[in-house]
Amino acid sequence: MLEIERRLEAERLAALENLEKVQDQAQLDQWKQNHLGKTSVTMSAFGQVVTVPNEERPAFGKAVNAAKVVLETALAGKLALIKQKELEARMSQGTIDVTLPGRGLRRGRIHPLNLTAQEIYRVVGQMGFQIYQSPEVETDDFNFTFLNIPPHHPARDMWDTFYTDKDNIVLRTHTSPGQIHAMREYCPQPIRVILPGACFRYEQQDQSHEIEFMQVELLAVDKGITFADLKGTLQDFARRMFGEQTQIRLRPSYFPFTEPSAELDVECFVCGGKGCGVCHGGGWLEWGGCGMVHPRVLEYGGYDPEIFTGFAAGMGVDRATLLRYQVDDIRYFRNNDIRFLEQF
Ligand code: DAH
Repeated sequence: MLEIERRLEAERLAALENLEKVQDQAQLDQWKQNHLGKTSVTMSAFGQVVTVPNEERPAFGKAVNAAKVVLETALAGKLALIKQKELEARMSQGTIDVTLPGRGLRRGRIHPLNLTAQEIYRVVGQMGFQIYQSPEVETDDFNFTFLNIPPHHPARDMWDTFYTDKDNIVLRTHTSPGQIHAMREYCPQPIRVILPGACFRYEQQDQSHEIEFMQVELLAVDKGITFADLKGTLQDFARRMFGEQTQIRLRPSYFPFTEPSAELDVECFVCGGKGCGVCHGGGWLEWGGCGMVHPRVLEYGGYDPEIFTGFAAGMGVDRATLLRYQVDDIRYFRNNDIRFLEQF
């Protein structure tokens, strides 16, 4: 046996004997430094492997390693023992008052934007529309080109778009791209869907503008759908949402993906059309855009515009929620202040 192996063996016995005397964590740390630290007999033996004659080297290396494992295992066992002792000490000293009331569970609530969205789903569900989820991250083809807004067309400036480092990948600026997804999935069947979800625009934030907001989009495609169906559906929708007497108004407008297009106004449900602060005295609230699906958009969706027609509308859920609950700043919705959210 080599001299160094004898020293290792002696060290192992000494270390294990010392460990018996260790009482607490501090002593254990000291023990670890003495017997498993860099300068300890065992650990420095690793450095001596190279000095051992070739034929004995493998056996020696094994022996050093085994010595280290023995000490490490003993250390782990002792550590568990000390922890257990500490826990028992704490349990026997402290007293537990079992009569104290426990911590109650905090009750969660549905977010106000989702409350409005759920109300919208309920209403349009009754009217035969199905919810269709589509992605929040889109290619610019879906966000623009397939909606009849070709690359480099100035109509793209209607939306302040978040472009990304990846070619052609954008955060959707509206829910309208979902129209294409729905059409491509259902073609050539008739469609009646509602497309809800988050949209993103690179805008200056203020009381009524957020970089993230929620929209719902209605889409109906079938044979023989007319502008009268659009108007009737929106009128019915507004009455079911805001009350039997509610009036809507369509104002001619322009969107690349509908022809003709209109702005949708709802009679102010705060003042009933008389004029108040909320509607700035006009009696009408701007709620969204709508129109007859452009033939080219139908084509991009796979439908033959000679056979099929359709209508679409897009509305802001945040705006509707502001009005519904008379909230004066849109930024409250997403800054996660429990004092605000608890009120719903
Ligand atoms: N996507 C439009 C926007 O966010 C809103 C819109 C207008 C949607 C007309 C429609 C539509 O479906 O027909 O600005």
